[in-house]
Amino acid sequence: MDPSIVKELEAIVGPENVSTSVADTYVFGFDSSIHRHKADVVVMPVRTEEVSDIVKLANRHRIPVVARGGGTGLSGHAVPVKGGIVLSTRRMTKIIDVRVEDLYVRVQPGIINDDLNKVLMKRNFYFPPTPGSGKVATIGGMVANNASGMRAIKYGATRDYVMGMEVVLPTGELAHLGTRTIKNSSGYQLDRLIVGSEGTLGIITEITLRIMPVPGNKALVLAAFDDLRKAGQTISDVIAYPVIPSAMEFMDRTCIDAVISAFNVNFPHSEAIVMIELDGHLAEIADNMEIVEKIASDAGAIEVRSSDDPKEMAEWVAARKAVLPAMSAMPNKASVALADDMSVPISKIPDAVVAFHEIAKKYDIIIATYGHAGDGNLHTKFLLDVNDAKAWKRGEAAVGEVYAVVNSLGGTTSGEHGIAITKAPYMRKERKDTLAAMIAIKKALDPNNIMNPGKLFEWEGLILADLRYPAEVEEDGHPAEGFGEGVE
Ligand code: LAC
Ligand code: ZN
Repeated sequence: MDPSIVKELEAIVGPENVSTSVADTYVFGFDSSIHRHKADVVVMPVRTEEVSDIVKLANRHRIPVVARGGGTGLSGHAVPVKGGIVLSTRRMTKIIDVRVEDLYVRVQPGIINDDLNKVLMKRNFYFPPTPGSGKVATIGGMVANNASGMRAIKYGATRDYVMGMEVVLPTGELAHLGTRTIKNSSGYQLDRLIVGSEGTLGIITEITLRIMPVPGNKALVLAAFDDLRKAGQTISDVIAYPVIPSAMEFMDRTCIDAVISAFNVNFPHSEAIVMIELDGHLAEIADNMEIVEKIASDAGAIEVRSSDDPKEMAEWVAARKAVLPAMSAMPNKASVALADDMSVPISKIPDAVVAFHEIAKKYDIIIATYGHAGDGNLHTKFLLDVNDAKAWKRGEAAVGEVYAVVNSLGGTTSGEHGIAITKAPYMRKERKDTLAAMIAIKKALDPNNIMNPGKLFEWEGLILADLRYPAEVEEDGHPAEGFGEGVE
């Protein structure tokens, strides 16, 4: 990067908040996805005006700008595939205004989900989406990705809570989108356009989020099964009854074994567990608990347990949230984010899970399946020896089949982790008839294509490209296309 640009950035945010060090440009070159690409410079602004000045500078010189929150993205959103500026929101952590009487909170984008909730809970309010990574994920990242998590079945995703926001557009100009009112029919809902835009349309500098009162009481039912289809049946029967739980989570044997061995949690060893969280008034919870227990038993559960003990419930929920890190503790294997968050209509969960297990067998890889089954959102984590190039290639072939199944069941490529790089080819296929509209919007707002360029519809490479792992593959004596591109 031209040293004069670095000097200008230093003048905007102070030299202590700009880095071109080998360590920083390496670390800020990857997130929680499988990809990596070196950043040219890392900048940490704290005020909106600083963000605006950085973007104006970048736009003048046609330098890519990639916004980064907690770095928990699993598809490569924060990976600067074209180099340039990584703009970290790490210092933008202010809660600007808590207005419980108006049902909103205004925050800077760098505040961490759980930190915000700690403050809101003192007033008996909270921001309901509950991502597994809530201890690290920032609100700005959650908005940019439309993140969600365990409670979407009853409480929706991040988009359902965005009332308004302040955004630095790709030209550096400020725009105030949405409102601070519960209702808004005043024209295009442009705040919604930014939700899920993955940093390609601007940098979010302030967010107004709707908040909800904390539900008073909770209970959990945990049902274990010796057969995946019986677990799936339970999920459909609970919803159709209808009981709408605040969460309904699924784990297969690989995930169950991983959390038992990593955390010694007292889960039954079984083929599948469905964990159902109920909230509301005590009488309503008691009624629903009885209904859910009976549905699980009738579907053939080998064990059904219930708890309203806060300590035990916290342990069960923590074990579920920790499935992903628990799997990376397995010997000689790393859990990699491939085809990792597709959604299907809820009743198709059993077909999807059974099909994923068959695909795993066919390609001789481990595909751990778990997720937010109550809202139809499944996670498949591929457990690979990341140094084994052939395992990667088998994984890549399996991804194609996973998405073929998902699409045939009426599902979508990404339910909550976004597209960025790892899912771009599949999103393009799925959204053929809206790609032109997306490209037109991007061109209109970002004429010089500086905002997180090369992602979403712009990513034309393979999914196994810019890998952060050292695998290389030989096919007929030649490295396979796409391998090792990002490895310095
Ligand atoms: C989870 C994250 C990976 O549900 O979405 O654990
Ligand atoms: Zn999830």
